[in-house]
Amino acid sequence: MFERVEAAPKDAILGLTEAFQADPRPEKINLSVGVYQDENGRTPLLECVQEAERRLAAAPTTKSYLPIAGLGEYTAAVAELAFGAEAAALSRERMAAAQTPGGTGALRVAADFIRANLPGASAWLSEPTWPNHPQIFSAAGVATKTYPYFDAQSNSLDLEGMLAAIAKAPAGDVILLHGCCHNPTGIDPTLQEWRRIAEAVHDRGLLPLVDFAYQGFADGIDQDAAGLRVLARPGAEVLACTSFSKNFSLYRERVGAIFALAGSGEAARRVQSQLEKAIRANYSNPPGHGAEVVATILRDADLRRQWEGEVATMRNRINGMRSELVKALQDYHVPGDYSFITRQRGMFSFSGLSKAQVERLREEFAIYVVGSGRINVAGLTPCNVDRVAESIGKVVKA
Ligand code: LMR
Repeated sequence: MFERVEAAPKDAILGLTEAFQADPRPEKINLSVGVYQDENGRTPLLECVQEAERRLAAAPTTKSYLPIAGLGEYTAAVAELAFGAEAAALSRERMAAAQTPGGTGALRVAADFIRANLPGASAWLSEPTWPNHPQIFSAAGVATKTYPYFDAQSNSLDLEGMLAAIAKAPAGDVILLHGCCHNPTGIDPTLQEWRRIAEAVHDRGLLPLVDFAYQGFADGIDQDAAGLRVLARPGAEVLACTSFSKNFSLYRERVGAIFALAGSGEAARRVQSQLEKAIRANYSNPPGHGAEVVATILRDADLRRQWEGEVATMRNRINGMRSELVKALQDYHVPGDYSFITRQRGMFSFSGLSKAQVERLREEFAIYVVGSGRINVAGLTPCNVDRVAESIGKVVKA
């Protein structure tokens, strides 16, 4: 039977890291996958995480199964972080919640839930979006459509195009919105724009699904939640998927959550039962360690303060590297105005490099960026930014 199986294409993002690891050139630089590195090129184990792990190790409990929906104290703390303490308290009764293996696990549960409970609903994805989004919905059997998001001319949000598409989408469809740090463009709506988007989404009767994987990496923990909180206005229905891979640097622990804000407590309980059904058939129940670490930090005032400081350090370093990259591109007289890079937010910059230029960067200069031209700015360091800018210059001038 296996003789007839065809090889799948390499993953658009993780496949590049495999190629990077196999590359023998010592000068290689990986700016593909969204993983934060400090100025020494290391992905840090946060101090607050190390302290939480020491505390957990000092008071071992059990490794028995967690409930299908995971640790209750974790999901309660995450709901407060994402929706705001006051809103989370007010909407507790009408909120379904589950801990998931990372943001991807949350998205897959969301997709399974949509397929099983919202028959015929399509999921609308921004054009462009994270390449895994269409795969996740397709694997779950949910059709996808796209709405305009990015205006390449002005390197900014195509708000009017987006609103026009929303106005025409069939009521009952799902619209996936990136809570902050849009992947791959780095372009986020302003608060004013979020208000217009939320108005349009609710008026049209679409269900917003917010992918919220970078809280704290744009402007601040609460500032970055503005879009989600505008969408989650009283009485609204919202699905949200969160991840702590990046902002707790817990990538391999796979820590995320899904929330469904319903119109009533009764509906929330039914939705909760369906989320749990999807989880049980998918991975049964979530892993414990990462969520225990996050809950320990979020529930302790000192650790929480320490975490906020460490997120700010990561955010400020990324934003600093944005300016450094623009300056280095100017120093190397790279044709074009790259100042838009400093206006983008989060880990990524949509550089405008073509597929051919991306290939040349990889083949000739051992610099790996995603085929769409997405650069992981969080992988730039004071040691590699000059070589990156110089190499970009060479492929652009060619
Ligand atoms: C990325 O976009 O690089 C990250 O979200 C990591 C991933 O899983 O693709």
